[in-house]
Amino acid sequence: MLKNDLVLKAAKGENVDRVPVWLMRQAGRILPEYKATRAKAKNFIEFVKNPELACEVTIQPVDILGVDAAIIFSDILVIPEAMGLPYQMIEAKGPWFEKTIKNKADVEALRIAQGEDLNYVLQALRLTKKELNGRVPLIGFCGAPWTIFAYMIEGSGSKTFSKAKQFLYTQPELSHLLLDKITKSSINYLKSQIEAGTDMVQIFDSWAGVLSEKQYYEFALKYINEIVAVIKPLAPVTVFAKDAHYALKKISETNCNTIGLDWTIDAAKARTEVGKNMTLQGNADPCLLYADEKTIAKETELMLRAFGKQRYICNLGHGLYPDIDKEKVKFFVNFVKEFRF
Ligand code: CP3
Repeated sequence: MLKNDLVLKAAKGENVDRVPVWLMRQAGRILPEYKATRAKAKNFIEFVKNPELACEVTIQPVDILGVDAAIIFSDILVIPEAMGLPYQMIEAKGPWFEKTIKNKADVEALRIAQGEDLNYVLQALRLTKKELNGRVPLIGFCGAPWTIFAYMIEGSGSKTFSKAKQFLYTQPELSHLLLDKITKSSINYLKSQIEAGTDMVQIFDSWAGVLSEKQYYEFALKYINEIVAVIKPLAPVTVFAKDAHYALKKISETNCNTIGLDWTIDAAKARTEVGKNMTLQGNADPCLLYADEKTIAKETELMLRAFGKQRYICNLGHGLYPDIDKEKVKFFVNFVKEFRF
């Protein structure tokens, strides 16, 4: 039994007496405590693969920031690794893959990940679930197939993801073969996360915004749909497709529980697109937290009133930036928790 199940209730469309709040990238470099724990591991990968350390940083934001949910500390790139493409996290640069996908033989050589390949995440989930002791729900996650595909082809981050898009235009059939393998791996992974104690899951489509609407439906949403169809009966599902306003209505047709919004869309417009029976999550600009408290309070109140109390989970429109002041984050979280309509 959960002592605080506000996020879960909001996701399921049940009534809540205040708006729940958690933050993307709440486990991270804004917290000195995170940096101290991270220093105990040799590098990012060793950190992610250490269940005790992962558990510790997952719980830190619950203790320190008072958020209404914990999100397991891991990364979306554990899936490419489990399929056969190891990555490194280069300091101040981001992810880097030594091997990338270039042709049919590369796609065929990839395995479909099984839950047990990601045992270290499952162990971290079990440990965190136990340590949380029902205080707040535990959120699991994976990358959306298109976003994972983009990293597998590109081999690193990119402004345009032009290599990945080139692949879609020049090798559409092979693209579908790869997306299908990623989808099957992600389904296995999410099922295992739920068996290990995850209360709800979020699918991150961080690079939705580089695709055209037509490509988004053909190469991205099709596979999100397949994941939601299998996972939703097991646990509530949130779909966060950054910069994909054009697709909100179609995303709502996947019948997921919650749609995550980035800060570039207005609450009222989003509500009109998705209808009444969908929970919305978001969407403060992370940069608002560089402002003074008066400005944060004013803008946050406007946002809360625009979304309303029910069918809403307060969050940012993307992850916290590492140089945001922890005290401002605390102020934001407290403001939301104390706000009454
Ligand atoms: O608190 C949480 O949100 C949980 C943990 C989490 C991380 N990554 C930890 C992390 C989650 C949910 C992710 C998802 C993730 N990872 C996404 C999707 C969300 C998004 O931001 O759009 C993506 C695209 C990645 C890939 C990734 N991981 C990049 C591009 C980077 C480098 C950029 C950066 O912020 O440093 C990472 C590294 C990463 N993943 C860090 C953390 C806390 C920073 C690593 C460090 O401590 O040095």
